[in-house]
Amino acid sequence: MEIMLYLSWVLLLALVSIVFLKKKNQRLPPGPRGLPIVGILHQFTGIPHRWFHQLSLKHGPVMALPLGFTPAVVISSREAAEEVLKTKDVETCTRPKMFGASKLSYNFKDITFAQYTDTWRENRKVSTVELLNFKKLQTFKSLREEEMDVMVKRISNSALEQSPVAVDINNISMCVVSHILCRSALGQNLHTNKVFDEEKIVQLVMEGSLATGHFGFSDFYPGKLGNFADWLFRREKGVLGRMFKELDDFYQHVIDEHLKSLDGPKGTDPSADIVAGMLHLVDKNGNPGSKSNLDQIKGVLMNLFLGGIDTVAIIMIWAMTELIRHPRAMKKAQEEIRAALGEKREKLTEEDLEKVEYLKLIVKETFRLHPSVPTIPREAMSPITIQGYDIPADTRIYINVWAIGRDPKVWENPEEFNPERFMNSDVHFKGQHYELLPFGSGRRLCPAVGMASNIIEFGLLNMLYFFDWSLPHGVVAENIDMGDIGNISFYKKEPLLLVPVKHH
Ligand code: HEM
Repeated sequence: MEIMLYLSWVLLLALVSIVFLKKKNQRLPPGPRGLPIVGILHQFTGIPHRWFHQLSLKHGPVMALPLGFTPAVVISSREAAEEVLKTKDVETCTRPKMFGASKLSYNFKDITFAQYTDTWRENRKVSTVELLNFKKLQTFKSLREEEMDVMVKRISNSALEQSPVAVDINNISMCVVSHILCRSALGQNLHTNKVFDEEKIVQLVMEGSLATGHFGFSDFYPGKLGNFADWLFRREKGVLGRMFKELDDFYQHVIDEHLKSLDGPKGTDPSADIVAGMLHLVDKNGNPGSKSNLDQIKGVLMNLFLGGIDTVAIIMIWAMTELIRHPRAMKKAQEEIRAALGEKREKLTEEDLEKVEYLKLIVKETFRLHPSVPTIPREAMSPITIQGYDIPADTRIYINVWAIGRDPKVWENPEEFNPERFMNSDVHFKGQHYELLPFGSGRRLCPAVGMASNIIEFGLLNMLYFFDWSLPHGVVAENIDMGDIGNISFYKKEPLLLVPVKHH
């Protein structure tokens, strides 16, 4: 009996020392010490990228953060980002299960928030091969030109008043992008739609985007404990529940309209828009009206609708904000554009973009300073090392794109808006240059880089060609509020009000 007791002790000691030695040999990233149970959650300031940035200045570019019971690491340098997104892309190409996103993505049946599963692979393939490719981009060219023309006419109406009134650039940008994406991706013409008008769509996008990043207890206390707390405090109800219902009604309306025409004598042309394409695709595998297929289509619709509209509008808004604060850059851009395109044009076409260079530098600089998605969430699927630090499996990894874009080790005078820094530089935003990652990189790179940058450049081209811009009476550039707000995508908090004057 005594021998048995003795042997059990030896065994226990051996086990403890194995665990202890293993932990001791691990080189975990440095980071702030947290309180028991909450970690450093109580210090959260509301804007993750700014908070992470402040902490990383003290703790370094690979920093461990105790967020409740969820291990997390924040990446804030180009080198570390390259190691995660390129060298360790296979191990980190899944997403953490986020509470708000789980509800609005129909339990991760989408692309953006889905874990690295077969459903993700299928949806991603459909979206890149069939829906967001270069050929499709060309198909909707005239539609984009038409909608930009509507935007110009709308701004012109304000400009032609005897004393021109200020227009809300936030609203103008959100509206034009909503029109383009709803028509090309969802087959919904908001000019004629009787159920969902432009105002309703803009409201849905803004509120829906915020709701997607809605935190639950389970984000920080995974498993039964967090789920129970979410249930107890009814985290799924309230804003999230209301948004889910409103968005679901919208997607259902879009799908119903398509299904109706699928039953019709000719059926819908699968290349008519993205929804038509998806319905044809799931139809090949079974009934497109089944609950599971519907959830999958709605999940993808959510990505296009919530992930596609505000991210694009955000960049247009920030570009105009920076230009009004930097009149020299505004003048240079307008002179280049007007000289290249000629005076007194009635309408612009996308081919005009090939004739201008400086505008594209402005867009790159805006991506650097104001990325629409400032932190990209990933999760380690297996243990990895980054910059010599051990990162255990299941650790959340946040790439702080916002902080990397203003790292003084990479960028000279990083806080300065200076489009010329990209002159004679091959640094691009398509995921191969890890100092500029507005669209991410690797397997999860945004599949709409081409479409998004095209709409942004063409939108700005129209705004800068047809109008001269000034601040409303009594407002000075130095006082423009540069604050941002959001949960996953972040937009300019205060609307940008500018007075347009028609150039000719
Ligand atoms: C300026 C506009 C946009 C920005 C800055 C942006 C940014 C991003 C970022 C940072 C990611 C995550 C990449 C990663 O994890 O490495 C992403 C993913 C995604 N984006 Fe965009 N995006 C924009 C526009 C769009 C548009 C217009 C659409 C569709 C209409 C779209 C659809 C998606 C989808 C489906 C994903 C998920 C990809 C995946 O997880 O596999 N995005 N985007």
